[in-house]
Amino acid sequence: MFGKDLISIADLTTQEVLEILHLAMRVKSDPDEYSDYLTGCTMAMIFEKPSLRTRVSFEAGMTQLGGHAIYLGPGDISLGKRESVPDIARTLDRMVDIIMARTFSHQSILTLAEYAEAPVINGLSDLLHPCQALADYLTVVEARDKMLSQTLDENVPAEELLERFKGLTLAFVGDGNNVAHSLMNGGAKLGVSVNVVCPEGYEPNPAIVAAANAAGRKTGAVMRVTHDVREGVGGAHVVYTDVWASMGQEKEAEERKKVFAPYQVNADLMALADKQALFLHCLPAHRGEEVTEEVIESDQSAVFDEAENRLHVQKSVILHLLTEELE
Ligand code: CP
Ligand code: NVA
Repeated sequence: MFGKDLISIADLTTQEVLEILHLAMRVKSDPDEYSDYLTGCTMAMIFEKPSLRTRVSFEAGMTQLGGHAIYLGPGDISLGKRESVPDIARTLDRMVDIIMARTFSHQSILTLAEYAEAPVINGLSDLLHPCQALADYLTVVEARDKMLSQTLDENVPAEELLERFKGLTLAFVGDGNNVAHSLMNGGAKLGVSVNVVCPEGYEPNPAIVAAANAAGRKTGAVMRVTHDVREGVGGAHVVYTDVWASMGQEKEAEERKKVFAPYQVNADLMALADKQALFLHCLPAHRGEEVTEEVIESDQSAVFDEAENRLHVQKSVILHLLTEELE
């Protein structure tokens, strides 16, 4: 049922997104059950950029599934410089079972997937960060259960899981970047409306907004882009932010600090959202810039649950891509 790769949430059906979340919940509640699913399997992890969460969660995840992961940093293979991307893909294919890649250009991930027969997982490109958004939506549904005082049951049917998302609004405050794009792609599949609240000139990719809106017609999710904080954050159930300058944009960091200052997620901004709104951040965070210490350390913040959920959701993705019989 699943395609060969996980490049974008836009490539998945609603049912597939729900199945990923569903298995992630099971893996989280009973990790031992899955500890020998990938005995003898190897993942190659290609990194053109730094990472804490992505590297550790994929590497620990493979170990916990009985497999092994190999870190290939920028100094190791020099993607596209020491060797072409198609040659790297076809070489790795002869040696490993699955490839994860974090690249600057999104095209590098598409080319890896085209030339490798092994599944390729997007671990962040300049365009998308699908594993992050999947972990974020798992965090949202868990937090919602807590609010509703319902115990999260990992056996909940997929359709019921969908009901927990429908009608929610997530306000993404900051740069219309890779994380914002994947949150829109995921929101469209789950019935979560996403408001991207950004300064002029930093809007998300219009083609991604349009495609997410088209996909959202099936679930009732609407994607909006606004420069007005009040309009975008008012009543939101989730407030999300990310760094103002992404990896590769370091030279723009000082300029961006000025442009984005009115978009800092602070207590005043949080007060515009729903009283019980959840605060999320993919991390790493720059306290005092895109978010205040007060907000990120508040009871509304679930940033470390969110980081942990990268592990569970990615184990689920890997299992879906590598195993036929799951349950
Ligand atoms: N959120 C995230 O992807 O973190 P890393 O850059 O540390 O992997
Ligand atoms: N938008 C950020 C996300 C980091 C996890 C970046 O691309 O650097």
